Amino acid sequence: MDSQISETTRPHITAKVEIPEQRSKLHTEDLQVDKMVKSESGLETRNVHAWFDKHHALADISLHFPKNTVTGLIGPSGCGKSTFLRLLNRMHEFIPRAAMAGEVLFAGNDIYDPGVNPIDIRRRIGMVFQKPNPFPAMNIGENVVAGLKLSRVKTSNKDALIEDCLTRAGLWKEVKDRLGSAGGSLSGGQQQRLCIARALALNPEVLLLDEPCSALDPGSTLRVEETIVQLSASMTIVIVTHNMQQAARVSDYCAFFLSDGGPGQLVEADLTTNIFSNPSDTRTADYVQGRFG
Ligand SMILES: Nc1ncnc2c1ncn2[C@@H]1O[C@H](COP(=O)(O)OP(=O)(O)OP(=O)(O)O)[C@@H](O)[C@H]1O
Ligand SMILES: [Mg+2]
Repeated sequence: MDSQISETTRPHITAKVEIPEQRSKLHTEDLQVDKMVKSESGLETRNVHAWFDKHHALADISLHFPKNTVTGLIGPSGCGKSTFLRLLNRMHEFIPRAAMAGEVLFAGNDIYDPGVNPIDIRRRIGMVFQKPNPFPAMNIGENVVAGLKLSRVKTSNKDALIEDCLTRAGLWKEVKDRLGSAGGSLSGGQQQRLCIARALALNPEVLLLDEPCSALDPGSTLRVEETIVQLSASMTIVIVTHNMQQAARVSDYCAFFLSDGGPGQLVEADLTTNIFSNPSDTRTADYVQGRFG
């Protein structure tokens, strides 16, 4: 099953390449080249499956995440959204007896090819988990830069990086006078934003967010959503959310997953406006209108 995202974006790539230099401005206005530029290949899955031991959790997911866009993954609990997200940066293989099939193409190469360094993949494709997981005994500042050492990334000015990442994660004002306090001393919502700051410190090309706002109050949620939209100017973002308003506010595309008792499957993927106003599958309409899930 090839998604409609692929269908709608691939022709744009060709169109972008073929526009002559001197005419590009005209085309920019007429044909929304902005969106076309955004449609360069970012991340793509082809016929991806996941298993936990004998349990087939996800079946045949083909999805395209155009570069510098936000895609919302939506669907009822247990349909495989978190599993799918973990497949996108090789976190899935940390789970004992977990297996996968299919391809995950990043910049044209399969991240599961032999010879690909998974540490490098996880640096370039960052992740914020459903449950905040700061290092509780490490202080706030150290938490932000904790990933640098693990990934062997160097920075010339750690303090500036800490401030920048905490600001972009919407946490700076609350913690700037207590950077030496333990990460574990923060509230749940603050810990989640700390984890977002930690992911940003590695300057990833793709950011995977698993319900990043589920523990946040409305004000913090708004700040994180603003951050997501700002980041998408230079980063490809995939966000799992149960909040339909959030999906509508932050995402360019949405993919609806569903399990009918068997493995989770992709029902449809499209521009977010279509998913909410004119979905092709009645199950999508029922879900986004809150009739189940
Ligand atoms: N570590 C694991 N071991 C065994 N089975 C798992 C594991 N993680 C997930 N599963 C199973 O895989 C399926 C998909 O789970 P997943 O966590 O991906 O769903 P989800 O869509 O993220 O749900 P939620 O919205 O509740 O977070 C479920 O049946 C779940 O029980
Ligand atoms: Mg989940």
